[in-house]
Amino acid sequence: MGATVTRAPRQINRTYEWIRLRAHALKRKASPLNLRKAFESDPHRAEDMSVRTEHVFFDYSRQLATDKTMDLLFGLADAAGLKAKIEAMFNGEKINVTEGRAVLHTALRQQDNTPVYVDGENVIPQVREVLEKIKTFSNEVLGGERTGVTDRKIKNIVAIGIGGSYLGPQFLSEACAAYAKEGMDLRFVANVDGHDFKTVTKNLDPAETLFVLESKTFTTAETMKNARTAKAWMRERLGDSPEVVKKHFVAASTATEKVKAFGIDTDNMFGFWDWVGGRYSATSAVGMLPLALYIGYDRATEILEGACWMDQHFRHTPFSRNIPVLSALIDIWNINFLGIRTRALLPYSQALDKLPAHTQQVEMESNGKGTDLWGRVVRYFTGEVVFGQAGTNGQHSFYQLIHQGMKVAADFIGVINPQYQVGEKTAEEVDHHQELSSNVLAQPDALAFGKSEVEVINELVSQNKLSPEAIAGLSPHKVFTGNRPSSVMLIEELTPFTAGALLAWTEHRAAVKGFIWGINSFDQWGVELGKQLGVKIRNLFFRSNADSTFRVDAARDDLNPSTETMTNAFISGELPR
Ligand code: F6P
Repeated sequence: MGATVTRAPRQINRTYEWIRLRAHALKRKASPLNLRKAFESDPHRAEDMSVRTEHVFFDYSRQLATDKTMDLLFGLADAAGLKAKIEAMFNGEKINVTEGRAVLHTALRQQDNTPVYVDGENVIPQVREVLEKIKTFSNEVLGGERTGVTDRKIKNIVAIGIGGSYLGPQFLSEACAAYAKEGMDLRFVANVDGHDFKTVTKNLDPAETLFVLESKTFTTAETMKNARTAKAWMRERLGDSPEVVKKHFVAASTATEKVKAFGIDTDNMFGFWDWVGGRYSATSAVGMLPLALYIGYDRATEILEGACWMDQHFRHTPFSRNIPVLSALIDIWNINFLGIRTRALLPYSQALDKLPAHTQQVEMESNGKGTDLWGRVVRYFTGEVVFGQAGTNGQHSFYQLIHQGMKVAADFIGVINPQYQVGEKTAEEVDHHQELSSNVLAQPDALAFGKSEVEVINELVSQNKLSPEAIAGLSPHKVFTGNRPSSVMLIEELTPFTAGALLAWTEHRAAVKGFIWGINSFDQWGVELGKQLGVKIRNLFFRSNADSTFRVDAARDDLNPSTETMTNAFISGELPR
């Protein structure tokens, strides 16, 4: 156990503040909050339950919460010692207790020179050194001074990584694609399915391609398999010399020796540190290296500025106006007290289409835990199911369920000015962005205020098309109960800066929940068992590769009969018959 864990406190669900929230929720259950009435009775609700800042606007007035709810939630945050826990994170305390590590992704984007210490060493100079190295390298590649082995300019960047070494950078890359340097392309290979590698490298000219291997540990099975395949792919096309690897492979990693063993010159390795968690690594070399090669170093650093802006807002703003804290408290209200354990993240921006996938990892890998920091079983829900997709596509897919099926909390993101102006604004026509935005403005109201049966009947009667019997038959199906919670986040424009701010919002929101639940949001032991069992099966495949008559035997190979049958199907290439 690390320095921050001392005496086990009462679990959060045993505190007075939690119990008060439960009582409040029970009262609300008996007399549910009606959002229509809440808005009618309080003309200040929209203003009171929204936060205006220089860079983002956050409106949570359509959540199933009142002032009282928020006060109780702030009380819960205090009972959990949230303020001190946030400070401990920023100050480099080893709050990742199961791995004995600090959690300092915020140091990666700190804009001033305030020292941040880990084990007595100020990490800021190391951070700056790597950034300088990325700057030089990316400028040389983009300027054509650093070329491929045949002296052709590098135009294609293929980032190979998975999980945190993929989802964050991919989100940033799509969000910032409008700022890509002329002629530069950035692609990602993550899945170990050969299909991914084949599709991504199809039509790529190897002479103009640079692989960026992204792996904190440089041992992740999928990434290393794809990296070896990339090396073979490159060598087949450009020759077997060590120069090919030297000029066409670089790495973002913490594992210097392993990177060297792969054949990558350490000059071409961009380091980071064990105090950067995988899913929190998008602002380390893992994200900054590919992004600098794609949009240029200067624009890439705007991501850091945006993330730092959100970090400062998070660290210094009172909870009542603190966007990551408010979002997290509302999540806790929904998850633990209202039983709404699924959240849809719905950005109305195609360029933010990958934010839900990144958020899904940050939330579900961080907070899907069964024990608290002291190893005690938690008997309250931690984590939530996060899913989503860019609007309006989701509207034609899963919104039916959100509007009339199970209750899901929705987070809308609206972008006021588009990256691309497409279409014209006239008195008869809206442009594409107005069409898109009319939806992000309408959907939260549809969820919150719904449509009653009386309204449905009046509407059908006014259309004068159906008989009274038909109206009576149809009307229940057309009712929207409303009172479905949502929040709206607005940004003025999607830029590297605001993409960085959204990234940091996501990270801090997950961390706040973990702090309150008393769990470790920075480890991920839950991914280990599957990996271990995978190794066992892989070894059986090795044996079948060496001996074509080899078949798995459940008793001999210590497998269950179900896995025996299915593994033999893969070995023989035929379905079990
Ligand atoms: O999915 C498990 C995980 O450990 C993530 O936390 C991590 O981001 C990912 O695998 C990749 O790890 P690495 O960067 O070491 O290849």
